[in-house]
Amino acid sequence: MMEIANKIYWVGIKDWELRMFHGEEYTTHRGSTYNSYLIKDEKIALVDTVWTPFREEFIDELEKNVGLDKIDLIVVNHTEVDHGGSLTLLLDKIPDTPIYCTKKGAEMIKQHFHKDWNFKIVKTGDTIDLGEYKLVFIEAPMLHWPDSMMTYVQGAGVLLSNDAFGQHYATPLFYNDQVDQCELYQEAIKYYANILTPFSKMVRSKIEEVKALNVPVNMIAPSHGVIWRDNPMQIVEKYDEWANNYHEGIVTILYNTMWGATKKMAVSIAKGIESTGIPTKVYNTGKSDRNDVLTEVFKSKGVLVASSTVNNGILAETASILEMIKGLKFKGKVAAAFGSYGWSGESVKIVEDFLKETGLEVIMEGKKVKYNPTEEELQECEEFGRQFGEKVRERL
Ligand code: FEO
Repeated sequence: MMEIANKIYWVGIKDWELRMFHGEEYTTHRGSTYNSYLIKDEKIALVDTVWTPFREEFIDELEKNVGLDKIDLIVVNHTEVDHGGSLTLLLDKIPDTPIYCTKKGAEMIKQHFHKDWNFKIVKTGDTIDLGEYKLVFIEAPMLHWPDSMMTYVQGAGVLLSNDAFGQHYATPLFYNDQVDQCELYQEAIKYYANILTPFSKMVRSKIEEVKALNVPVNMIAPSHGVIWRDNPMQIVEKYDEWANNYHEGIVTILYNTMWGATKKMAVSIAKGIESTGIPTKVYNTGKSDRNDVLTEVFKSKGVLVASSTVNNGILAETASILEMIKGLKFKGKVAAAFGSYGWSGESVKIVEDFLKETGLEVIMEGKKVKYNPTEEELQECEEFGRQFGEKVRERL
């Protein structure tokens, strides 16, 4: 247990080994944490639990340090198993303990855990008196599940924000001001880009709503990573920026290649773009971490996607990254396709059509080269890049 504010304790788990999250969808190079919080007021409230594999360790610690029968109520801000995964074992031991959650939360708990516990449905503005402190609930649907909510500890000025403002980041330290700022921001922006981007509209309106409450926020304690205690609103300001068609004025090229011809095109195109003053990052999607690459796409104004043609189609990793780009619903970015081919040459058209489905604006006809590009064709690629760079520049 770690006291993070008067009577408020972190009782979570640090998962140093985690390297993939959401199944195999999200890479966690720095592990993660599952942050659970205990408020030891006149009444004792447990806010969120931890992921299922850690439930015994989590519950043993609670029993040892607090006594399970002393817990008066449980708040479930979010059902997903990285936060709700200890509920079954915990409720086996304290079965009648009230669970405060949203209406969707109760439905989803039943669907996940097939249990009908003592649910107390709460809505935005509902409160529970704990003694010195009062819990105030703020529904946050689609941030990032329909059941999501936040809990504000009135009297302490602590916002228990659940997934919002989190990072998949295990560190021996607890607070934002104690860790390497580059690491922290890398993990925070990767988390936003890969998890929250599709819900940016809801992020913007929730930020407005929380700001309008005009309550003191001394600390923002999310359910993953470090707690924001030094200027906690800095991460809210960042979310406001990230939720508004964010880009850093760069271009990202995502290519995949069989024998290097598409790679040669990528390098020449990048040279052409850079001649317009636009920084350009180049990734082979067959060799790169998809979530890191998607974070770069998030930072980009322009995105070029390339594949050689294989079996009348595109390479598997190109299809995979395009599918992820489509799901993330990036807004305000422009795109184009290119690639080499041997005889049938379908890849550029397939990538172009897929780019249109992703919601990126295709601003140029794609560039194709047969077999291994000649010097003259590489010059054409450079010119293609220069034109793309100019078009990006016009839109900055
Ligand atoms: Fe951290 Fe949506 O679970």
